[in-house]
Amino acid sequence: MSLKDLCPVLHFGDLGDERGKLVVIEGARAIPFEIKRVFYIYDSDSTVVRGQHANRDSEFVLINVAGSSKVRITDGKEEIIVALDKPMTGVYIPKMIWKDMYDFSPDSVLLVLASTHYDGSEYIRNYEEYLKEMRDRK
Ligand code: TYD
Repeated sequence: MSLKDLCPVLHFGDLGDERGKLVVIEGARAIPFEIKRVFYIYDSDSTVVRGQHANRDSEFVLINVAGSSKVRITDGKEEIIVALDKPMTGVYIPKMIWKDMYDFSPDSVLLVLASTHYDGSEYIRNYEEYLKEMRDRK
């Protein structure tokens, strides 16, 4: 499967009306997993690169609910870059995919939905180690 198919861009419905926009994301419905954790990243300037890890057990959906950022996604072979700049659009990132978030606008609020509670030991933060684990899995 191509990386684009593994990491689809998701479009969420807008339930807004004349009072304003409303976006709803229900776990295991609008996204492929039940949500166990939510975190958001803001006040990262445009020179910062965040992420720089893969997760053995966690799946994520990334949504810029304000402003914009980019996420570079790779499986060690292919690479795609997704521009996140709409509150109604997110990208799904399954387990064992390496990701870097960067190019944050000053008003960027990057919302992350995760399938797990936090466990630092399931993070792979060394790219060479990630490549080795990917090779060993085959
Ligand atoms: P880090 O994983 O480096 O952030 P990102 O990859 O999103 O740039 O996390 C920064 C710190 O926060 C690190 O010490 C781990 C901690 N942290 C938690 O305790 N819980 C969490 O859910 C997350 C995402 C991070």
